[in-house]
Amino acid sequence: MMTKDKVLGHLKREDDFLSGEEISLRLGVSRAAVNQAVKQLRSEGYKIVSVTNKGYSLVWGPDRVGLGELMAALSEERCASILVEEILDSTNSQLRQLAVEGAPAGTVVLAEQQRKGRGRMGRSFFSPPGRGIYFSYLLRPEGDPGTIAGLTGCVAVAARRAVASVCGSAPGIKWVNDLYVHERKVAGVLTELSVEGESGAVQFVVVGIGLNVNGRRDELPEEIREIASTLEEEHSRPWSRAALVAALVREMDTLAEALCCGGEGWMAALQGYLAEYREADVVCGKRVQVIGGNTSRLGEAVEIGDDFALRVRFDDGGEEWVRTGEISVRPVDA
Ligand code: BTN
Repeated sequence: MMTKDKVLGHLKREDDFLSGEEISLRLGVSRAAVNQAVKQLRSEGYKIVSVTNKGYSLVWGPDRVGLGELMAALSEERCASILVEEILDSTNSQLRQLAVEGAPAGTVVLAEQQRKGRGRMGRSFFSPPGRGIYFSYLLRPEGDPGTIAGLTGCVAVAARRAVASVCGSAPGIKWVNDLYVHERKVAGVLTELSVEGESGAVQFVVVGIGLNVNGRRDELPEEIREIASTLEEEHSRPWSRAALVAALVREMDTLAEALCCGGEGWMAALQGYLAEYREADVVCGKRVQVIGGNTSRLGEAVEIGDDFALRVRFDDGGEEWVRTGEISVRPVDA
């Protein structure tokens, strides 16, 4: 971690002034290095005042998701396995590469912008600079894919809890794992699994979360403007992306810990996530179009099963548990 990130972390944690000497002692670096870091931070837009005999105080900073900002909410040790890049093709692709090279569970990759952000079912995910959160988290559960059944639903709940802890109100969940505020999508989850061919054992799971945080709805591409939105638009105020990232890290750490314990502990945690998922569900009782492969059928969503599957009563007869694919919520007369 760079000295300027550490200096920023200490300044953010402090309500009062912090002397240059105190910072250099805490970080084990020279006073000159502290001065240099403050200079660099100021050139990046941070307003840091300095008063003789008192030291430095941070009065304002831009909305960035760098390690310095995250250090205000997470320990330095936790931040050591968080990688922040200015621009990447996709944080999921980058983390997959790191996982193949042996990165430990809990590694997080973040980017201010993605060139080729990926969504579910081969779609792209709009990832402009400085507006959203593009977050990937590495899990290394033991066992076969059956061990992690329901995981993506749990991730949606974890993301929902993170948003609620910062914004004060919890988004809804649209099956299978989109977060909705006022009937518009503000976040999506893309979970990618690597399985060993021979044994069928899970090697690792990359959980990708994309969250539209700041900016107006009319800044979104035309093709998603009617169905998607941002937290700022829906709450009529901007949010600190760093605070949201820190909350996501905490919630994902809690989920990962429960998952890696396995057995009854995981089963109990799963029940908690499932109950919250059902509470947050915005789909049951609504007309839906179920899209999978080349088929599309209309029906009514009935309930969320114990494995997070969706039971649908189809117009063409019969009820089925839907476990894969996608749904779109339809107007009542469709
Ligand atoms: C969806 O809504 O279809 C899922 C969107 C997932 C987007 C996130 S952004 C971080 C991570 N990196 C990616 O390329 N995709 C996921």
